[in-house]
Amino acid sequence: MALYSEKVMEHFRNPRNVGVIEDANGIGEVGNAKCGDIMKMYLKIEDGIIEDVKFETFGCGSAIASSSMATELIKGKPVSEARKLTNKAVAEALDGLPDYKMHCSVLAEEAIGSALDDYEKRTGISTH
Ligand code: FES
Repeated sequence: MALYSEKVMEHFRNPRNVGVIEDANGIGEVGNAKCGDIMKMYLKIEDGIIEDVKFETFGCGSAIASSSMATELIKGKPVSEARKLTNKAVAEALDGLPDYKMHCSVLAEEAIGSALDDYEKRTGISTH
């Protein structure tokens, strides 16, 4: 059996929404101390909707695939929905990750959470 699903490989090879949003109003950066991987998420939020989202990930293939899938799952969605995105949902959307790679999807959940926290701090507007 292949270790990684087709979807993981596809998002790793052609990640969506890579880059920087210059006028982002929510930016989050998280890392995993064990593997040293780092993920940065940029959000452009307008009227409670994630109008745009981009990421930069210095990390493994699963972290890149997870970031890519996570951005696809929250783009165009209300902030309250983005808040509820779990790493499990990201991994499921990728047709699964090996157990020892689940922490890569946790980075995506945390990076989005951190970017939403930053938005709240900047604007005083709740995202819950
Ligand atoms: Fe750490 Fe993938 S090995 S994020």
